[in-house]
Amino acid sequence: MRNKVRVALAGIGNCASALVQGTKYYSSTEEKNDAIGLTAYSLGGIRPSDIEFVAAFDVADTKVGKDLSEAIFAKPNNTLRIADIERTDVEVKKGKVLDGVGNHLGQKIKISDGSSVDVARVLRETNAEILINYLPVGSREATKFYASACLDAKVCFLNAIPVFIASDPDWQAQFKNRDIPCAGDDVMSQLGATVLHKTIVKLFVDRGVKIDETYQLNMGGDMDFYNMLDDERLEDKRVSKTSAVAAMVPYEIPMRIGPSDYIHFLQNDKICYVSIKGKYFGNTPIELDLKLRVVDAYNSAGVMIDAIRGARLALNRSISGPLESISAYCFKHPPVQMPYSQAKTNFIEFVNERRDR
Ligand SMILES: NC(=O)c1ccc[n+]([C@@H]2O[C@H](COP(=O)([O-])OP(=O)(O)OC[C@H]3O[C@@H](n4cnc5c(N)ncnc54)[C@H](O)[C@@H]3O)[C@@H](O)[C@H]2O)c1
Repeated sequence: MRNKVRVALAGIGNCASALVQGTKYYSSTEEKNDAIGLTAYSLGGIRPSDIEFVAAFDVADTKVGKDLSEAIFAKPNNTLRIADIERTDVEVKKGKVLDGVGNHLGQKIKISDGSSVDVARVLRETNAEILINYLPVGSREATKFYASACLDAKVCFLNAIPVFIASDPDWQAQFKNRDIPCAGDDVMSQLGATVLHKTIVKLFVDRGVKIDETYQLNMGGDMDFYNMLDDERLEDKRVSKTSAVAAMVPYEIPMRIGPSDYIHFLQNDKICYVSIKGKYFGNTPIELDLKLRVVDAYNSAGVMIDAIRGARLALNRSISGPLESISAYCFKHPPVQMPYSQAKTNFIEFVNERRDR
């Protein structure tokens, strides 16, 4: 059984930066000392220090050709620095642009002049075992391109973005037929708007409140939010976020959930407002309004460390196709939607070999 895991990254933005820095941060941490922020220091015997980054793809001229240790801090990335990263000897290679850079992002990113590499070939040459898709929202064609490269090179695909692969029956079958696992879609942050909103909505329902309406507004100051100013790119994000909350209510309610604005001085902080209105005992009104402020990229990094470790276990056990419990625990739009507590139970059972997938 292997514990080490060789990871490739597509999209070296804030999320990739937080994952690379977080992996280093926890690799230099003693188990009993400071593992604050991780769900488990060792999961199925796998520690953060077992994660190795072996390949990286981007298209921005500030990142392509750079060592991964530099590219994660290159503009327009703007998340916090929590670790110094030594040279990795992983050069960021130019992937295929396709629809990765939309109208808004195109104002902030200059595409590298170099030629694109054969991504599947790089995955094979670097012996990558998992590729994480961290492309901008709305990159439907580019996501399919990287998923196809994974099928070609027999690499597990973890899809952090809301383009539907792990939750799509056709793609599920393709991964199953190639004997490769996949998980996704759209990473669910550790304590972000989605897990908070769906858990509170479930609490209202469980406690007999009839919900009349709910909304969730989100704003941030990074390229993720700038990109989502393009209305036509954010449809899948709305579907993904809304489906996660809607699955907790056994009846239809008016709901508005999604990215709401870009506020440049927020940098990589994200602010979300959740509002729920309903009625309870005696048909009397109840209303909840809450605000959450987080550093967005770090909110997803620990979850991705769990997804990588779960995928390592799936590879060790030769499990292929969509990984249901990892997807339900770590992603907003999984093949099977479930309450958070159930998803965590299933995930831990999977880790402990009491559940197949
Ligand atoms: N908590 C979170 O931050 C969170 C949660 C859920 C989902 N996500 C999703 O994860 C994704 C990554 O988020 P981020 O904040 O790192 O975004 P980002 O904009 O900082 O990074 C995206 C990167 O992809 C690169 N890129 C664009 N087209 C490409 C292509 N064709 N090939 C390779 N690289 C390409 C860009 O140059 C950029 O470096 C987004 O889709 C975001 O919605 C993030």
